[in-house]
Amino acid sequence: MSRGVRVLFVCLGNICRSPLAEGVFRDKVRAAGLSSLIEIDSAGTGAWHVGEPPDRRMVATARGHGVDLSAQRARQFVDTDLADYDHILAMDKSNLHDILFLDEGEDFGQRVTLFRQWDPEPGDYEVPDPYYGGPEGFEEVFRIVDRTAENLLNGLVAHYDLTKD
Ligand code: 4NP
Repeated sequence: MSRGVRVLFVCLGNICRSPLAEGVFRDKVRAAGLSSLIEIDSAGTGAWHVGEPPDRRMVATARGHGVDLSAQRARQFVDTDLADYDHILAMDKSNLHDILFLDEGEDFGQRVTLFRQWDPEPGDYEVPDPYYGGPEGFEEVFRIVDRTAENLLNGLVAHYDLTKD
């Protein structure tokens, strides 16, 4: 393999759900000894929070589970991400639609899926947006993201036959 497998998590604001997915997944990849083989980033379809750190409620929830999101800064999803990432994982169906809208030549649709397609308990396949809700919403997002990221890593390891560096 000439380069790592590139994984991009995408939500609306890039301050709640996708930063958590990035942080949780990065920790799992590191723990598995696969950091040199998997490249990870996150982005938002919207531009409102570009340059900001993740929402403090999401940072606090993650910290409570031993995951540090504090160094992350929001960026907007750009159409060149479609060519640059092997797996573009949308947090909800609206994000998926907005990403595919940027695929004008319809070249990259196979790379774009719902993140919860990797969830062993996928429910409605969407990670609920916790932004306007209370603390329990953030904990629920953590539980969803944690088990889905675990299954995603197992899937990538199997698909690409990744072994510890
Ligand atoms: P996220 O949550 O998409 O999980 O980062 C949101 C954050 C901000 C907004 C919406 C969703 N907003 O409208 O500003």
